[in-house]
Amino acid sequence: MKLSFQNATIQRDGLTALDQFTAVFDSSNGACAILGANGAGKSTMLAAILGLFPIAEGTILLDETPVTPQNARAIRARVGMVFQDADAQLFNQSVAEDVAFGPTNLGLPPEEVQARTTDALRSMRAEHLAQRDVTRLSCGEKRRVSLAGILAMRPEVILLDEPTSDLDPRACRELASLLQSLPAFQLIATHDLAFARRTCPQCAILQKGKLLASGKASELLENQSLLEEAGLA
Ligand SMILES: Nc1ncnc2c1ncn2[C@@H]1O[C@H](COP(=O)(O)OP(=O)(O)O)[C@@H](O)[C@H]1O
Ligand SMILES: [Mg+2]
Repeated sequence: MKLSFQNATIQRDGLTALDQFTAVFDSSNGACAILGANGAGKSTMLAAILGLFPIAEGTILLDETPVTPQNARAIRARVGMVFQDADAQLFNQSVAEDVAFGPTNLGLPPEEVQARTTDALRSMRAEHLAQRDVTRLSCGEKRRVSLAGILAMRPEVILLDEPTSDLDPRACRELASLLQSLPAFQLIATHDLAFARRTCPQCAILQKGKLLASGKASELLENQSLLEEAGLA
């Protein structure tokens, strides 16, 4: 499966957040880290895949399907996003209710919702949290539960925006190993280079709304002058 940006331009509040951005993310190459300094356009790029911003110019394609308001439903059935702010993502009272929300909304029968909820919590090692209040979890637990809520919808692609921003080193390592165990194709916006190395064979570096470089993480992340140019070192 492929996600392609072809000269995609997105304006936010009159600023150009993505500037004729062109890139191809191919699931056969494995997870891709989206790197770049603050304001480079990482969050905009991910949210644009879900059709959250009007595309002023160019195209974004999921395989052959262009991101348009008409296709938003079809795209959101295949792509899930874990937003940076876990508190904004979790809004039901209990963890189990929160994880069940997505599959319930897909109109699945209650047994299937239950099975997916249990399954998703298990794959995030969060079964023991099922009856807990979402507002009373640690940051690491919140992150795993919001990811479980996305997994319960069985997406082909998972977009993660700064998943480690509020995690301690141990929670980062746990999250990295959980992500590596998932079959879904992942795009992970982060400025945590160690986390990127651990989770992503590929990386793309953004600068001022454009693609500065893309390729194997093992090569790009060792390129000091490139990292400095991108404001990452
Ligand atoms: N909520 C917002 N409203 C308006 N403009 C925004 C908002 N968030 C980001 N932008 C602008 O969009 C551009 C890209 O930002 P963003 O996608 O958040 O970058 P990154 O995630 O790489 O830090 C920046 O110029 C930023 O000022
Ligand atoms: Mg961001």
